[in-house]
Amino acid sequence: MLEVVTRPARTLLYGSALFSFCSVLNVIQVFSLLIRPFSKRLFYEVNARVAGSMWKVMQMIMEKRHKAQITFSGDKIPHNESALVFGNHRSFTDFYMFHSVAARRGMINYMKYFAKDSLKYIPFYGWGMWIMGMLFINRNWQQDQTAINKMFGRILEIQAPVWIASFLEGSRLTPSKLAASQKFMQSRGLPFLSNVLMPRTKGFIACVNKFRGTHVKCVYDFTFAYYHRTKGFGVPPDLVRVHTGRLSPEYKFHVHVKRYQLEDLPKDEEKLNEWIIQKYVEKDAFLEKMKESWTDDIEGGIWSEKW
Ligand SMILES: *[C@@H]1O[C@H](CO)[C@@H](O)[C@H](O)[C@H]1NC(C)=O
Repeated sequence: MLEVVTRPARTLLYGSALFSFCSVLNVIQVFSLLIRPFSKRLFYEVNARVAGSMWKVMQMIMEKRHKAQITFSGDKIPHNESALVFGNHRSFTDFYMFHSVAARRGMINYMKYFAKDSLKYIPFYGWGMWIMGMLFINRNWQQDQTAINKMFGRILEIQAPVWIASFLEGSRLTPSKLAASQKFMQSRGLPFLSNVLMPRTKGFIACVNKFRGTHVKCVYDFTFAYYHRTKGFGVPPDLVRVHTGRLSPEYKFHVHVKRYQLEDLPKDEEKLNEWIIQKYVEKDAFLEKMKESWTDDIEGGIWSEKW
């Protein structure tokens, strides 16, 4: 019967369900502030579970209810391992792709994202995001450094499990952004990329330096690929489409991940900068190959995995 419900009606339905759910979580979050003076670890854990329950519900709608068909390739990621993670950015759906792996590895509660500072001031949601440990930035690394150091300090102090996630391209890929990025890279004598934008490396380099020698020992490099039955390669469903009906076989999703030891990354900043750009060159090549033959010929094979 639900199939006859129209797209706007569904959006409204999900919207209000999500709002009620968030409001309940918000109340829990506000009360959790009372725990903070007594146990930072418990405060962190309570809020991680609140955040995780929201991400899990969204993931379940996508994967279980709407039957998204997600395949994986690359390195095997261990359970419960803290890491700095980054991926290519095309759409809101990229969050679900991070979470597809995080959920299967016991880390979905511990996702931390960088978010725009202005979001902090949205009543309820913004406060909730702050309590959940979203890392708010103004796009000005210098200015944000104090706040970011404080946030990282809290994670390090209690050796909290964490996946600190970022989209190094800075914004979603669009044709005009891609053209601008290509022009810029060409002017700097950098490689030509057709499936990703030039990564902004400054923030990531600072993260790597901050977490050297700590409990965060790994870096995961994610590549997300999308396929639509008629529109073809590189077309993900938008946020509303994810929540309106069956996704398979109309869409296909693929997640490729490489795992590195943080201590093996170059110490020299210039070299680390090159390393990051090299990862984006590899992403671009991987996506180019996927564009030609969707998941046909990937080293190490592809698999799907029950959640
Ligand atoms: C991961 O951590 C959870 C919670 O601490 C634990 O129950 C689970 O057994 C761990 N999984 C592995 C594979 O170590």
